Amino acid sequence: MATTVHQPPEHVVKGAHVDSLAKYQDMYAQSLKDPEGFWGAFAEQFHWNKKWDSGENFHKYNFDLNKGSINVSWFNGGETNVCYNCLDRHVKEGNGDRPCFFWEGNDVGQESVTTFKQLLDQVCQIANYMKSQGVGKGDDVTIYMPMIPELPATMLACARLGAVFSVVFAGFSAESLAGRISDSSPKMVVTCSAVKRGPKHIELKKIVDEALEILDNEEQVHVPRVLVYDHKASGVSRDAIHASLVEGRDVWWQDVIGDQPTECEVTWVGAEDPLFKLYTSGSTGKPKGVVHSTAGYMCGAAATFKYVFDYKPDDVYWCTADCGWITGHSYVTFGPLLMGAKQILFEGVPTYPDAGRCWEVCDKYNVTLFYTAPTAIRTLMACGDQHVTKHKRTSLRILGTVGEPINPEAWRWYHEVVGNSNVSIVDTWWQTETGAHMITPLPGATPMKPGSATLPFFGVEPAILDDKGSEVQGPGQGYLVIKRPWPSMMRSVAGDHARFEQTYFSHYKGYYFTGDGARRDEDGYYWILGRVDDVINVSGHRIGTAEVESALVGHHLCAEAAVVPVDHPIKGQAIYAFVTLMNGIDYPPDESVRKELVAQVRKAIGPIATPDVIHWAPGLPKTRSGKIMRRVLRKIASREEDQLGDTSTLADPGVVKVLLELRGK
Ligand code: WTA
Repeated sequence: MATTVHQPPEHVVKGAHVDSLAKYQDMYAQSLKDPEGFWGAFAEQFHWNKKWDSGENFHKYNFDLNKGSINVSWFNGGETNVCYNCLDRHVKEGNGDRPCFFWEGNDVGQESVTTFKQLLDQVCQIANYMKSQGVGKGDDVTIYMPMIPELPATMLACARLGAVFSVVFAGFSAESLAGRISDSSPKMVVTCSAVKRGPKHIELKKIVDEALEILDNEEQVHVPRVLVYDHKASGVSRDAIHASLVEGRDVWWQDVIGDQPTECEVTWVGAEDPLFKLYTSGSTGKPKGVVHSTAGYMCGAAATFKYVFDYKPDDVYWCTADCGWITGHSYVTFGPLLMGAKQILFEGVPTYPDAGRCWEVCDKYNVTLFYTAPTAIRTLMACGDQHVTKHKRTSLRILGTVGEPINPEAWRWYHEVVGNSNVSIVDTWWQTETGAHMITPLPGATPMKPGSATLPFFGVEPAILDDKGSEVQGPGQGYLVIKRPWPSMMRSVAGDHARFEQTYFSHYKGYYFTGDGARRDEDGYYWILGRVDDVINVSGHRIGTAEVESALVGHHLCAEAAVVPVDHPIKGQAIYAFVTLMNGIDYPPDESVRKELVAQVRKAIGPIATPDVIHWAPGLPKTRSGKIMRRVLRKIASREEDQLGDTSTLADPGVVKVLLELRGK
């Protein structure tokens, strides 16, 4: 089908920050020609304890491993504080009474409003308590909390002190949490009694206890302080948990925070000091701690929030992402607060209590800007239009999507049914590593094509490389890379700069390698094709095949495992695992083995990594040198065995036949 080009609706164009393609092109050219002029002008709106150096020192970098170690810095010489710019600045400007959060709990009717001044007071109290416990500049704090205002408040309290926070999504298992805590040795873990997610109760404190027990016993890592928020709305009472508190280590938030002073001096930090780390999966090894900077990240998150959502002070914004992911960092906590936005903070899930929840909330608060993931869009689409159309949704102006490629059918449904064909859709391509949007339409300027992330954001210079590593000119397809640094890019992998260089800069010298494939069309539009490495994108969440494989072989009956992605109508991709059992076990084994293996993965990583299929594999297709041929496995998994291609290099071509016989067994 030929691609229909959708022009931004007139009401979106009118009054937009960028209201024509020509203006975008101008600003884009300017941003590449004069980075200091472009980013310096944007950064002026923030408070700087010390202004950045102009000229040569403003931005320095080496992007080419051939020339030495990779390093990137922006706003050198500057000193600022992200928390100050998110909160104090707005209060000083007379906006203290403006709401920043409209919290919507998991259950309908659970709600609260927080103003900028209230948030500032609370953040200062948390920061004062942390300080009293010895947390200071450069110290680590791990946060394992649900979507309640105390979660962004804790992130901001750390930022106020210059402490480096690491939020772990409160859906990861105890073992995953333990791995992340052990990697950063935090002075404090901040968590919550429990949470209700949809109809399920999850006792978060218990998971933290298990994680810390693993660390105490196996790694001799001891966390001195665990701060526990008593989340009454979860339905799990304080009394039910109180007995399990570890003396000398665990304290109730409500017992220690309320008495703290509501003023806390800001710790000014250098532009390049780290703000946070966030663990993400890659093709190999353990998840890595992606380290983000202070000033560059701040400006990148704020500028994309302003331009990509065409944010104006009257807007009511809602991003459904959890703060446990980068989207929740940049587009719940930082971008919106930096720009002084009013937003919905949502604890629930889009299908609870029914598939109309999102649109009910949109009507309740007159949401103008809505941001979610393709997997949510497809889930809601499958539930039927009636859940959407029974709500008005007339306030909506811009709808955003992120996390995985959006198929054109889902794009059209989002545009036509949710948006009444009267909105701009922003399909934003970016990554944990990039910190902020990279390729995306601007809602008042960019003609949209369903399924295309369209054109690069200001300051971003993408390129497409062919198999030989040469740049593809004009239309074509290949590996998506970025040619020069942008302010919000990651600076390192926590504790392992060599891994940072190896992962992102060793494949193609002089380029940042994204791990994604992409196509560029005749209009210069980018179409993201998905990961080209061993990362599976399940419902927009990155899962490393190696992590799932290592969880599987952790089971005493599993000898070897190979994991590949398969297409899934709702989740985008699903996890498909080939499992070889220990010698002496007949295939197919008892059904209980499959259940145990699935449980093993959920325990090691979390429910998001649950394999959809376990395919018994007495042998795996390997080359003579012993390398598993995943290409062959992918074809078998997706039932395309007629396209296996050349299997003559397999050490034992017979394994394919056996695998096909065992499919579905
Ligand atoms: C994928 C999420 C197509 C991509 C912000 C990327 C997308 C990975 C899009 C990063 C999009 C994200 N279109 N693919 N609009 N957005 N991706 O680190 O494969 O959780 O490399 O960051 O998600 O996932 P991450």
